[in-house]
Amino acid sequence: MATAPLNIGIVGCGGISRMYTDIYVGLHELAQVVAVADLAPELARDRAAGLTAGYQAEAARARAQAAGARSQDERAAATALAASADAAAANDIQTFGHHRELLAEGGVDAMVLLTAPSVRGGPTLDAAAQGVHVFTQGPMARSVAEADEMLAAAAAAGIELHVQVGSRYSRGMRHAQRAAASGLLGQMALARVDLNLFRPQSPYFRASHWHGTWEGEGGTSVFHHGRYIIDPFLFVVGSPIVEVTSYAGAMLRHIETDDLTLSLVRFANGARGVVSSSLLHHTNPLTPTYRFEVIGSEASMVVQQEYTHPEVPTVMLGSRENGWQATVRFGSNHDPALVQRLEALEAEVADAPIRATEEYQSRIWLESILGGPPTPAPLRVPHHHVELTRAVYKSQETGGPVSLPLAKDDPFYGFDGRLTHGRTIPATDPPPSGEVPRRTRPA
Ligand SMILES: NC(=O)c1ccc[n+]([C@@H]2O[C@H](COP(=O)([O-])OP(=O)(O)OC[C@H]3O[C@@H](n4cnc5c(N)ncnc54)[C@H](O)[C@@H]3O)[C@@H](O)[C@H]2O)c1
Repeated sequence: MATAPLNIGIVGCGGISRMYTDIYVGLHELAQVVAVADLAPELARDRAAGLTAGYQAEAARARAQAAGARSQDERAAATALAASADAAAANDIQTFGHHRELLAEGGVDAMVLLTAPSVRGGPTLDAAAQGVHVFTQGPMARSVAEADEMLAAAAAAGIELHVQVGSRYSRGMRHAQRAAASGLLGQMALARVDLNLFRPQSPYFRASHWHGTWEGEGGTSVFHHGRYIIDPFLFVVGSPIVEVTSYAGAMLRHIETDDLTLSLVRFANGARGVVSSSLLHHTNPLTPTYRFEVIGSEASMVVQQEYTHPEVPTVMLGSRENGWQATVRFGSNHDPALVQRLEALEAEVADAPIRATEEYQSRIWLESILGGPPTPAPLRVPHHHVELTRAVYKSQETGGPVSLPLAKDDPFYGFDGRLTHGRTIPATDPPPSGEVPRRTRPA
């Protein structure tokens, strides 16, 4: 059994690693970063320096708390916290130019993979081969084949593999999952999910960056962005999607992948559904960014989700306190008492945080490695999101319904299957409103 603090290696020191610096600086009693890797050496050096400075600041904060303590117990707790943060700051964080070097020489128990969505399978398989636990940014994998390999490797090695998407873990979302699983909604007839996000051409989709490319991102609105609501939606509905008929494409943005997908789906339990993902939705007070609904014969459930940032962070950088919150509401025209029974199910998940912070998801993964309970959502959830994405793209390409699971020799089971009508990101930024002439594409 592993013991705290675990030795952590961070792989990928780009944009999101700033947030993971703040997260790990706050988790020093459970785990300490001892190595970082990036293909760009300066990014790895900056990350190591940022982590050390963060640990030092955390130690200083704890010492200030000890000095101002109002009881012996409070002083002892703050002094222990300072000692732990000092120990983390004293680690000479090693820097590497590739994840394989970090795994070979970094002496890590667990790897936090913060690379683009196209870089998942290789590092995970390499880590599993060495018995190193893995937390990967989402989506889980760029293809079903890769996701299957990751699951098999993790099971064979007995490591804790966990896939980022913190929105599964808010109390509202866990409550919604209990409500769907309770059967109180009755026979499920319709389950519909909407992502209504806005991502501009510039600066979001820009030349020589991986956003909007097949090789770097592997899929956009339904995949890379859709995960924040489609993954928890699949967790809540609980029944796998078995058939998909879709439109998917680059409607307004000049990207190779998709900025809009609309899918009609059928679930194994017989329910019909709609999965809609858009990066074209201008912010509008009447448009929820993340929403889904489940309509049953006895009652309905509507879930609305938000990503919030604390207005006044209680910690230094603050991004570890960003988090997901879901509001769930029930209705029943048959039996108002049913609504109360559905609402009462919240008590079963009272241990889940109302707002699942970015730190929370990393914490529950670390605790699972250290002998705590397993993380609440099974890996089949992010796996199914990958599978759904691949089926959406296949349906667009073949022009008809696609059955799931995909056969192993299907190009969309692997990564060869792609949308073929996408556009190339222009070398110079087009106007934000996208007046650049569009390439004709099939209906
Ligand atoms: N940037 C954000 O605000 C943000 C927010 C939420 C989630 N994410 C997620 O985080 C992930 C990474 O996004 P990003 O914006 O940080 O990307 P990024 O391109 O800024 O950083 C990724 C880094 O990984 C490095 N890398 C690639 N392969 C490597 C290897 N084999 N060994 C070592 N380093 C390697 C690259 O050199 C690069 O610096 C994505 O899945 C994204 O969805 C990012």
